[in-house]
Amino acid sequence: MNPLRSLILAAGGNDSIRRAVATIPATRGLVERFVAGETVADAVTVVGDLVDNGRYVTLDYLGEDVRDPGQAERTVQTYLTLLDRLYDEGLAARAEVSVKLSAVGLCLDEKLALDNVWRICAAAEQCATTVTLDMEDHRTTDATLRALDELRHTWPWVGAVLQSSLNRTENDAVTLAVPDSRVRLCKGAYAEPREVAWRSRHQADLAYVRAANILLAGAGYPMFATHDPRLIDILGERIRWHGRKPGSYEYQMLYGVRPGEQARLTAEGELVRVYVPFGEQWYGYLMRRLAERPANLAFFLRALVSRS
Ligand code: FDA
Repeated sequence: MNPLRSLILAAGGNDSIRRAVATIPATRGLVERFVAGETVADAVTVVGDLVDNGRYVTLDYLGEDVRDPGQAERTVQTYLTLLDRLYDEGLAARAEVSVKLSAVGLCLDEKLALDNVWRICAAAEQCATTVTLDMEDHRTTDATLRALDELRHTWPWVGAVLQSSLNRTENDAVTLAVPDSRVRLCKGAYAEPREVAWRSRHQADLAYVRAANILLAGAGYPMFATHDPRLIDILGERIRWHGRKPGSYEYQMLYGVRPGEQARLTAEGELVRVYVPFGEQWYGYLMRRLAERPANLAFFLRALVSRS
């Protein structure tokens, strides 16, 4: 890994840097660019703006690897409040939620996590919206797909996520390319060991295209989560080749990343869903976004160094 990138990811655990980032105006601006705020009200305001601009949304209440049942319960309660607010504001038709199983108890007990995400799905159904299960590192893939399978007996609309960085993903794509199946395809955000993952980014990109082809040829609803201009071009060509019409698939991008491209695709009649993170646990998320992009990194470091 690039040493600068390792440094930034290591800074993700440092409290004084976190405090500085939240208070220095320049870095605060970066936080606001990538994170919708700390509260449900902040998040709903951002959703309203995005929806006014023709976007769809999926919301993530930040936090993962929760090891305290009380915290898992608070996460569930926040999702329930959020879903109510989306419904009350008339936004639920365009805004769904994304849930990490480790945020609702997977590290404590698989059954607890399933019960908790079950409650979120039941609330989403009441509010006429949907849930997607975010995918975490490869040690959780089987448990997440088991939960998905269980939930889909009751709610076929529960979305899955596949990561092209993992060797297993093409097989999983075949299994999931079935009617009604909503599948987000991303590259994968985790540093995975060689035994389970492609060795180079190039191989993972090729695997992305192969998995996209499987999903487009199948009967499900693919959701292409990437900012990669090359992949977006290839996807456009593959979508046409498979005769897919807008509305039978969607593009997804992160809040604050390539907003111009989000606008371009929307103007072309594509369905674009923005992944909007919010919550008090924004710091680790921000560090991951910065580590992905050298230009943001340089800006961030300059702002920190010139703080006085
Ligand atoms: P990559 O990071 O390789 O970037 C490729 C190119 O895209 C860059 O060279 C640049 O041109 C452009 N680009 C990227 N970032 C940019 C930026 N900030 N500004 C301008 N250009 C930029 N992961 C996971 O493991 N589990 C999950 O559940 C999810 N969920 C998810 C949802 C959504 C909606 C998205 C968009 C992503 C995820 N991810 C995820 C994260 C995903 O796996 C991946 O880590 C990031 O999206 C980065 O990968 P890219 O495909 O954007 O390509």
